[in-house]
Amino acid sequence: MYRSHNCGELNISNVNQKVTLSGWVQKSRDLGAMTFVDLRDRYGITQLAFSEEKNAELNEAAQKLGREFVIQIEGVVIERSSKNKNIATGEVEIEVSELKILNKSELPPFTIEDKTDGGDDIRMKYRYLDIRRNPVRENLMLRHKVSMEVRNYLSNIEFMEVETPYLIKSTPEGARDFIVPSRMNGGEFYALPQSPQTFKQLLMVGGIDRYFQIVKCFRDEDLRADRQPEFTQIDCEMSFVEQDDILNIFEGLTRHLLKKINDVELKEFPRMEYADAMRLYGSDKPDIRFGMEIGELNDVAKNKGFKVFDEQELVAGIAVPGCASYTRKQLDKLIDWVKRPQIGATGLIWAKHNTDGTFKSSVDKFYSQEDVAKWAEITASKPGDLILVMAGGHDKTQKNLGDLRLHMAETLGLRDPKVFAPLWVVDFPLLEWDEDSERFHAMHHPFTSPKAEDMYLMETDPGKVRANAYDLVMNGNEIGGGSIRIHDKSTQESMFTHLGFTKDQAKEQFGFLMDAFEFGAPPHGGIAFGLDRLVAIMGGQEIIRDFIAFPKNNSGRDVMINSPAPVSAEQLNDLSIKLK
Ligand code: AMO
Repeated sequence: MYRSHNCGELNISNVNQKVTLSGWVQKSRDLGAMTFVDLRDRYGITQLAFSEEKNAELNEAAQKLGREFVIQIEGVVIERSSKNKNIATGEVEIEVSELKILNKSELPPFTIEDKTDGGDDIRMKYRYLDIRRNPVRENLMLRHKVSMEVRNYLSNIEFMEVETPYLIKSTPEGARDFIVPSRMNGGEFYALPQSPQTFKQLLMVGGIDRYFQIVKCFRDEDLRADRQPEFTQIDCEMSFVEQDDILNIFEGLTRHLLKKINDVELKEFPRMEYADAMRLYGSDKPDIRFGMEIGELNDVAKNKGFKVFDEQELVAGIAVPGCASYTRKQLDKLIDWVKRPQIGATGLIWAKHNTDGTFKSSVDKFYSQEDVAKWAEITASKPGDLILVMAGGHDKTQKNLGDLRLHMAETLGLRDPKVFAPLWVVDFPLLEWDEDSERFHAMHHPFTSPKAEDMYLMETDPGKVRANAYDLVMNGNEIGGGSIRIHDKSTQESMFTHLGFTKDQAKEQFGFLMDAFEFGAPPHGGIAFGLDRLVAIMGGQEIIRDFIAFPKNNSGRDVMINSPAPVSAEQLNDLSIKLK
């Protein structure tokens, strides 16, 4: 038997018990006549005590233990003379009578403690060591708990988990596919699924009216803090439902998770139309933990002799709380911030809303106190606030102000990770124009149904047609997205035509789905949550990598196993692949 107890469970009630423990040497303190070793496992740390007086040989052996050695000990639980109130086992220690080294360890490349000295790269290379650290293990534990709760909750309301294949077919919509060559069908390729979208719809045709799956998805896209090339979805689909049914069920799931795991009681989730989200927050995933809503200033800022504004499509601003005292240097820094290529604005106009109610702006020459008072009214500025105004193309200016709003909130500490602000964004546009390919793309995906009341615009102004599509947003992050689907062949065919597919292309790519629609497809819809993102937000963070056991780095590499990597000429030959 390797252990009678784990390293986190012994306390004063175990005094005088004989125990066996196994674990890793976190650190040892050699005091000459006494040696103390912190023994660590997944559950905690227990102090081991060795003394020259009791057993000189053992004490000597303990002094030779290196960090991260794996050892097994036997001994008796005794009360400590100097107690450590910070850890669960802090009142006791083990008087060791036997010590066995189960395995030695090289000196680890970074300290395996809550605060480590290891940088990102080295911790990724030795991820298995990083996983020994509490913060990483706790993140994985949180993820495990969320998955368990999701399964319980959905299973209790008749959702059935069904696995769908990973080797599927490449399709032209969405992100780039990862493709997998087929040995048995030389020159042909599978693709890894970007999501199980078409399969879950086929399950609806198959009569599985409530499906879910916690499933890996693969997308070959550029990485960001909230994106990994392989990530996990809580993927769901339901038959005989309308948008409200889906929103209610998945609001229920989210509320359940936050209650059960974070002990946070969420109120009813607000719902906001996409157009309002863009107008007020310059983003389709607004962070509503704080105000600073965008005010449109065209009517009050144009035609006052300030040419920079006159020629622009949109002049708009936000009022940043308490920042009227910003110095010239701070303002210049902000101007530099908006001019960075990531934002790409030409400039930023500011107006201080002084505490005495007067205004001082960077464009005093053109605007009177009364003029700026109107800006203040529209941006809901209060005395002491700083009004920041941008101008330019309509969409770009909204987006820039959205980014500036987040930046200011970040600077002012308004994005409290312990506050959870969920939001449904609804009524997304069905299509979005893509400049590069000069055609419309489906904003969500091509299986999303248009709103019946907007159908009349389909031929004349397709960009204005709204979809039965929705996103769940939390703290400025898109947690999930879904839609009510098209479930008849002719609408689906016409959708593909609008997306620029010929009839043959549509048939070749998605014929299987449209054929299925001819065999009694029920009305259906669904949603998928990004599990990695949900767990990260629940853990008070936004970088999903920290919540994935073995993530990829920013260049899509697994630096631990060194992948991707070349394969042998023989393997390529088997796959009928010739490299140039
Ligand atoms: P969508 O593409 O919106 O919808 O994806 C759903 C959710 O998956 C998460 N997500 C990601 N997480 C980490 N890394 C990525 N690269 C990544 N890409 C997406 C996001 C997102 O909200 N089949 C549809 C769902 C449906 O219509 O039912 C779909 O995949 O949290």
